[in-house]
Amino acid sequence: MALDKQEIIQLLRTKGEERTSLLKRSQETKLNEVGNKVYFRGLIEFSNVCAKDCLYCGIRKGNEKVIRYDAKDEEILNASRFAWENNFASVVLQSGELSSPAFVKRVDSLLKKIKKLSSNELGITLSCGEQSRETYKRWFESGAHRYLLRIESTNRELYYKIHPNNQTHSFDKRVEALGFLKETGYQVGTGVMIGLPFQTYEHLADDLLFFKKLDIDMCGMGPYLEHEDTPLYQYRHLLQTKQERFDLALNMIAVLRLLMPDINIAAATALQAIDPAGREKALAVGANVIMPNLTPTAYREEYQLYENKPCLDEDAELCRNCLEARIHVAGAEIGYGEWGDSKHFSRRT
Ligand code: 5AD
Ligand code: FES
Repeated sequence: MALDKQEIIQLLRTKGEERTSLLKRSQETKLNEVGNKVYFRGLIEFSNVCAKDCLYCGIRKGNEKVIRYDAKDEEILNASRFAWENNFASVVLQSGELSSPAFVKRVDSLLKKIKKLSSNELGITLSCGEQSRETYKRWFESGAHRYLLRIESTNRELYYKIHPNNQTHSFDKRVEALGFLKETGYQVGTGVMIGLPFQTYEHLADDLLFFKKLDIDMCGMGPYLEHEDTPLYQYRHLLQTKQERFDLALNMIAVLRLLMPDINIAAATALQAIDPAGREKALAVGANVIMPNLTPTAYREEYQLYENKPCLDEDAELCRNCLEARIHVAGAEIGYGEWGDSKHFSRRT
């Protein structure tokens, strides 16, 4: 559905009955366009070593309190095998951002090994930051077919407020990287944080219009959560309450579902850091993808992008059972054994 910026702002601001009706419309749109299935992507946060210094992120390069890890191939393959054996059909390999030749080669070799252990069938999404066109192409040829690269905010000014070092961060380069991903043939996902200090409804409306213009296939967006060991923490007095950020994140999902009815929308883990049933609530208003955490438990403490990250000490099996029960309670079905590609991607290609 077409919505202009003013209409989007109005929808994002809705409260009470009007909001209930927005969420209902979004849920109906989801059911009509992409159905009642929820797809699992097993999330493997394989390394927290990062060259970037985003002011909001707990694993930023400048945070010396974090113990850096790089999971062993065997651990990553075991987590992938778990996903494969449990019919998840797809994994997400996520890490801090590095672009050294060694890192590029490592990811490449992991892709080949994961493909091999699953007779080429496990789908692989990468979330390893900005890379060159050549690197994206190499990884694509080795088996990755989806890529997540959040733009974080599409407002240039806000982008540089939260990434002030223009030696390591460039808004234009990030946008360009999304273009490279698209031209390489990936299903492309992006997203933003919601409720950042200095962020306005206008920025968020522009974010949604940017997604539409870029014609993305997937989106993952969640509330911003302050982290004590990051520079952005000093602006916590400017934040909305956590509940307000949570509600606004659900409104963002709902409006995006109306704007782009056939894309895949993830129920971000950050929602669960505010409300224990946060991800299920997102599924009920328009999201259709969930990313159970398969990161080896020993590393989870050190992959805290934000405080209160859930599931730090649960093993993957427990997490899966728990998710299953909750998804059934939420009235949805699990798309086991299916890649669950974005319908939008099939239509645009
Ligand atoms: N709060 C919420 N989300 C965060 N991310 C990083 N730090 C935070 C935070 N403090 C998100 C970013 C990044 C993704 C992997 O995690 O959007 O792209
Ligand atoms: Fe993590 Fe259940 S979802 S323990």
